Amino acid sequence: TNRTFTMIKPDGVENGHIGAILEKINAAGFRIVAMKLTQMTKRDAESFYGVHSERPFFGELVEFMTRGAIVAAVLEKDNAVEDFRALIGATNPAEAAEGTIRKLYATSIGENAVHGSDSDENAAIEAAFHFSGRELF
Ligand code: GTP
Ligand code: MG
Repeated sequence: TNRTFTMIKPDGVENGHIGAILEKINAAGFRIVAMKLTQMTKRDAESFYGVHSERPFFGELVEFMTRGAIVAAVLEKDNAVEDFRALIGATNPAEAAEGTIRKLYATSIGENAVHGSDSDENAAIEAAFHFSGRELF
């Protein structure tokens, strides 16, 4: 489909990068379909990142994702999932390409500023996790 889901993670919000990250998203041609400032509960984060529940960093990931506010958003563009993953760059900022959001604003592999859905199916699941139908424009 033409939609993806993103979060500006707690580190990106804490470090004052909401505006700069949204600027990059707009400049890359994404339309904001839904957006809110919110905070995930422990249960939310365990469910959202459930696919990683057996990974050694899972506890750290849940702690991190719940420690403060996030910006959740749904974005629209042709080829949204793939193009947004290219815009944010590799999970580890040390490996992220120049100019990508993670290269610019992430501080470590754990605290990497933004989330981007990894498939159309997950984009739909993740958008529905955070937004009701009437919050999508
Ligand atoms: P998301 O867009 O957030 O899903 O990141 P990703 O798709 O680039 O990476 P992945 O889904 O594999 O991992 C999800 C998140 O777990 C990452 O974005 C990191 O925040 C965290 N994470 C992944 N690997 C590590 C790790 O080795 N250590 C720590 N502390 N966190 C990790
Ligand atoms: Mg992922």
